[in-house]
Formats: sequence, structure tokens, C-alpha cells
Amino acid sequence: MVAILLGPPGVGKGTQGDRLVKALGWQKVATGDLLRAARREGSELGRKAQSYMDAGDLVPDDLIVELVKEKLAGLPADAGVLFDGFPRTVPQAEALDAALPSVDRKVDVVILFEAPADVLHQRISGRRFSPDSGRIYNIYFDPPEEEGVCDEAGTPLVHRDDDQPETVARRLEVYRKQTEPLVEYYEEASAPLLRIDGDQEMQEVQSDLRSALAREVGIEVEGA
Ligand code: AP5
Repeated sequence: MVAILLGPPGVGKGTQGDRLVKALGWQKVATGDLLRAARREGSELGRKAQSYMDAGDLVPDDLIVELVKEKLAGLPADAGVLFDGFPRTVPQAEALDAALPSVDRKVDVVILFEAPADVLHQRISGRRFSPDSGRIYNIYFDPPEEEGVCDEAGTPLVHRDDDQPETVARRLEVYRKQTEPLVEYYEEASAPLLRIDGDQEMQEVQSDLRSALAREVGIEVEGA
């Protein structure tokens, strides 16, 4: 199975995606996480991506498509795949549609999370993450046991550089202009597009997501 998570910055794609892949045993391919890891390693991709990410702009399609193709080729053939933050433009979606048949896959379901802009701003301002465990926290809604320290890795939490208010405004604008057209793209595609209200408690969002997956595509998700 191949599933795609769509939605604006801060809506909860990473949070919900992590819970889903943990329960299903799937692989998550999150281009934002891959790019941040490339920056920490100081790789050529990381250096090329840095200025775009810091400005709140999208990294060029050719770099992203190459990154995703490499990642896809390295996944076990029978693993379910959840894309988070990819595709983000119509050319990326077209490139994915063209690449999947070569690994005997297709897009099976697209999940769109929605929430109002003021909610997104508040969530992003409170977000902290652990570069070591990958876990996402929120100082208002989901704090760690000890302030500033990851419960799992025991190392300091980080405030993302692109989570500053000016950059967040730019990221939301970029989402509206470059990523929202994907909603129409996937409405016209054969895989179902599931709309999930992201403006609820985390557990309620997950529960709606699981009900929709069971109802629309027959994917039953057990466990926490
Ligand atoms: P990326 O890392 O993908 O960022 P994003 O799409 O902007 O999404 P976020 O990570 O901001 O939000 P999210 O929806 O995952 O929310 P989260 O679960 O963390 O991309 C970063 C940059 O990389 C881009 O700007 C671009 O430059 C580049 N890039 C990446 N992919 C690219 C691509 N394909 N093409 C080109 N460039 C690309 O939740 C947010 C916060 O809210 C957390 O603190 C969480 O704890 C909290 N929260 C979540 N749900 C709830 C809830 N229900 N109630 C209360 N709090 C909640």
C-alpha cells in the first residue's frame, strides 16, 4: 500500500503519521525529516536545501524527486509506505505517479488534514522536536516529562529554524499557492481522497483517520 498525507504546515501530519506507521508497521517517508537529516550531516543535498528551507520556500522539485526515488528503491517490496510532506507540487505528484509502477506500486489513498490558520500558528509556535528520536512534542499540548528534554532519547529538544513567525507565514502562503492545487489533482485521480478534521484532540484525529481508512480502503488499524 502507498498512502500520502497532505495538509498545511503544523496541521499534524508528522504526529498522526508516526502513530499510524507504528501501529501498521509501515515505513514513513517524510521529506522534511530527510532534508533536516541531510543538513545535520552536512551533505551536498543538505547544503543545497538550506536556503530554501530557512526562507520557508520549497526545495526544487528535481532534488526532492531524486531523494524520494532513492528512498523508495531501498524499501522492502512488501512494506506499506506513508509519504508525509511529499508530494508538495503537481510536478512532484506526476513524478511519483511515473516512478511507482517501476517498484510495482501505485498511490492507494490520499489523506488531507485541515485546520484553521490560527490553530496552525499556535501549534507551530509550541512545537519542539528531538533530532535523536524523531519524536515531536508541543509545549502547550504535548510537553515532555522534563522541560526541554526528549522522554525517549534523554537529549535536548530543538526549536526548528523555520518555525519562527515570519517564516511560518511564508510557509502557509507557499502551501496555498503550490501545494493546495494537489487537492484537485487527487480529487480527479483514482485513489480515494479522505478529508480529516485536524482541529481536534490528537487522539480524536487519529480515531477519525482510522475509521476513514477502514471504511474507504479496508485498512484496519489496531493498537494505540
Ligand atoms: P516539513 O518538515 O514537511 O514541514 P511542514 O509540511 O511545513 O509540516 P510541519 O512539519 O510543519 O507540520 P506537521 O503537519 O507535520 O505537524 P506536526 O505533526 O509536527 O517541511 C519543512 C521544509 O522542508 C519545507 O518548508 C520545505 O522547505 C522543505 N520540504 C519538505 N518536503 C518538501 C517537498 N516535498 N518539496 C519541497 N520542499 C520540501 O504538528 C505540529 C505541532 O502541533 C506539534 O508540536 C504537535 O505536537 C502539535 N499537534 C499536532 N496535532 C495536534 C492536535 N491535534 N492538537 C494539538 N496539538 C497538535
